Amino acid sequence: MTPTGSARESGRFACGGSTLWQQRADVVVVGTGVAGLVAALAAHRRGLRVVVLSKARETATFHAQGGIAVVLPDSEDSVEAHVADTIAAGGGLCDPAVVRSIVADGYDAVADLVADGAQFDEATPGRWALTREGGHTRRRIIHAGGDATGAEVQRALDGAAAGLDIRRNHVALEILRDDTAVTGVLVLNEDGAGIVHAPSVILATGGLGHVYAATTNPGGSTGDGIALALWAGVPVRDIEFVQFHPTMLYAAGSGGRRPLITEALRGEGAVLVDAHGDPVTDGVHPMGDLAPRDVVAAAIDARLSATGDPCVYLDARGIAQFSTRFPTVAAACAEAGVDPTRQPIPVVPGAHYSCGGVATDVHGRTELSGLFAAGEVARTGMHGANRLASNSLLEGLVVGGRAGRAAAEHASAAGSVRAHASADRRHDSLDRDTLQRAMSEHASVVRDADGLRRLDDVLADASAIEPTSRRRFEDAALTATARAIAVAALARTESRGCHHRGDHPETDPAQEFSVTIRAVAGRPALDTATAVC
Ligand code: SIN
Repeated sequence: MTPTGSARESGRFACGGSTLWQQRADVVVVGTGVAGLVAALAAHRRGLRVVVLSKARETATFHAQGGIAVVLPDSEDSVEAHVADTIAAGGGLCDPAVVRSIVADGYDAVADLVADGAQFDEATPGRWALTREGGHTRRRIIHAGGDATGAEVQRALDGAAAGLDIRRNHVALEILRDDTAVTGVLVLNEDGAGIVHAPSVILATGGLGHVYAATTNPGGSTGDGIALALWAGVPVRDIEFVQFHPTMLYAAGSGGRRPLITEALRGEGAVLVDAHGDPVTDGVHPMGDLAPRDVVAAAIDARLSATGDPCVYLDARGIAQFSTRFPTVAAACAEAGVDPTRQPIPVVPGAHYSCGGVATDVHGRTELSGLFAAGEVARTGMHGANRLASNSLLEGLVVGGRAGRAAAEHASAAGSVRAHASADRRHDSLDRDTLQRAMSEHASVVRDADGLRRLDDVLADASAIEPTSRRRFEDAALTATARAIAVAALARTESRGCHHRGDHPETDPAQEFSVTIRAVAGRPALDTATAVC
């Protein structure tokens, strides 16, 4: 790679009446969770000038509890068994070749993470402890600090990335492109808006949980990468499949980010009961409380509708040494005044994970040359209609590394680029409370056509704003993302994976395809329905 100038090279130039600062890089990574940092490290280790943009320090990776699903060599587990469990959870929409490719590379990606300093809990010296979560037929989930796996992954990667050029409080406002390829990113920082010219950009912005009023996601999960891709003309796929985690800590009237109560508790014997002590998942699925997440969340939702209660309960009183094995959950419960060793934990399903996202291949490549996506923001075909527990850190590690290498290769071949920002930077934006209320009411665990049409009407009220602050940008990103979910959810007239239609409760074999959404005249619209399996 021939250096094209320092990443810190700085200047200002006029564009559309305003003056933009400008800088250069080979690869820009947007996001500092597992996929972003692994991608950034991979490109940096190939000698490329990498700039990492971070609007907030808190990542979803940090909050991940259960662990990383991985097949260990010389174990009774197998890649084929993990692939089969992933595909079974995915409701017919996983791409088997993609699943196999990612699962097969899992152990090497974890070994790289260990080389970068991560430490996992051991059952005996030299042998990792393995737990189980919903949908897994084997104990194959490694964890750290009991239920603080994400915190350990983030700690290790933050340490490894300490020498990288990480720009905090930098918001990526727009992917800049010419007719055929990426040319850079429009960015907002404390100096105002500016351009980082770069031939490769990797979106690793995480999820979209804050389109709902309550979510397990950190505050920055506002669908940024989904919106950035749509605005750049790049499609998103499977976006109607928002996974609701069955057990988010319940407290009356609470919203925003809520504590996750890890599924590994059920793996260690905790049981779901309603307010009368009756089991919630009896007769619903052969795996009972350890059925895939979509099944358990729907069973809870149905029980709450039947009883009119605000929550169900996770009875974890049988788990020995609770606060040692589950210190994160113990701390969250203590803060809420709940003692899980003496009383069942009040829980409800909560928006947790976007199974769909920016359409990519297994190397994170989108259809736009130079634009990559990895981690939760991406839709590789791994998760289909419902993600299997603890497959997210796995995918972030594997595809993050691949995207970093592919982006480095692309930048090396592309050489220097020059980006131009248009004068009109406005996007539709709706008041956040209004949007979250409408999404929670009409596009939650169970949806129907009437509700989705009402949602569409609410979203139609958005008005064009210029994203002159992080908050304004996020509101526009939330609006674009909510519209994409609404369009896709309305189009899928069946129930499959995490998408449950009250008016179409059955799975329709004729709809075993992915729904693709693109922006048309700035608004997410149905593109084509593509068969994937
Ligand atoms: C959990 O610990 O239950 C969540 C892990 C995941 O989202 O896969």
